[in-house]
Amino acid sequence: MIYNHNIIQRQYDEIIAPNFDIDAKGIYASTYQKGIIQLQNTNLILSKTPLQVLDIGIGTGSFLEQIALLREGEVSPFGMDISEKMLDIAKKKIPNLRTIVDDATNLEKHYANRSFDLICSHFVTGFVPMRELAPKVWNLLDEGAYWSLIGQTMASYPNLRKIEDSLVSKLIYWVSGNSKLDYDVVSSPEGHSEVIEILEENDFEVCQIETFEPKIDFANLDDFLDFGYYNGWLTPFIEKLGIHKASKMLSLMINILLFPIHDNQSIEIALARKITK
Ligand SMILES: C[S@@+](CC[C@H](N)C(=O)[O-])C[C@H]1O[C@@H](n2cnc3c(N)ncnc32)[C@H](O)[C@@H]1O
Repeated sequence: MIYNHNIIQRQYDEIIAPNFDIDAKGIYASTYQKGIIQLQNTNLILSKTPLQVLDIGIGTGSFLEQIALLREGEVSPFGMDISEKMLDIAKKKIPNLRTIVDDATNLEKHYANRSFDLICSHFVTGFVPMRELAPKVWNLLDEGAYWSLIGQTMASYPNLRKIEDSLVSKLIYWVSGNSKLDYDVVSSPEGHSEVIEILEENDFEVCQIETFEPKIDFANLDDFLDFGYYNGWLTPFIEKLGIHKASKMLSLMINILLFPIHDNQSIEIALARKITK
């Protein structure tokens, strides 16, 4: 069982799109920078013009915008996303962006007559399993073309998980009337090795890969909600928990008993190349 796509679409359209570019703890920006460095280590940025690039789950388009800047506009940019509101923001950053609003699991229904030099999919493998995405991406790439894949793995947030199992959390679940979280809704890979395994199983050569483990400190519930709920990192979980609507009494209790929280994410940043089967 994975995320219900209608719920994700609503959350991105209504809650996350207006806040996404605030990038509450700067983790998106740091990650894009690392992804861009991987691209700069190849001949892709200097290669033939214009570069055909598809970003799957493009969001507000910040990564593709940076590629377009590096290429001084010599890019043919395509973006697909389930959220129209995220795409609206991307279109303002990348004027000639051609967009499709659809679920990435339908990728093969689009771009039938196209192939790409680069496909990006960043922070979408939590919603669309990497194993499902990999063969579809492979089919749309030219031989030797690249897949820039960035995503969190299940190794993220070890301390939040510990807290979730604690007695304090059980008390909060009881007071708030909500039930324990179900991690089966997330399709993220387990960790570094599984990312490599899936890439290789699907005829990709892993050119570069690094694990980025930024530390994150949450001072209090509001700080946590800015990052986790409004910025999109944990919106489906928080909405299920209901703590974004906590009463003053419950907020006070959560702040006293649970915060501050120190944790880290675990993000795989990979650049892989299509090899012939
Ligand atoms: C965390 S954001 C990342 C956006 C962008 N890739 C970035 O790194 O800044 C995830 C994006 O994936 C989109 N998304 C979620 N599920 C999707 C699906 N099934 N198909 C297509 N896009 C999806 C969301 O609407 C959102 O724009």
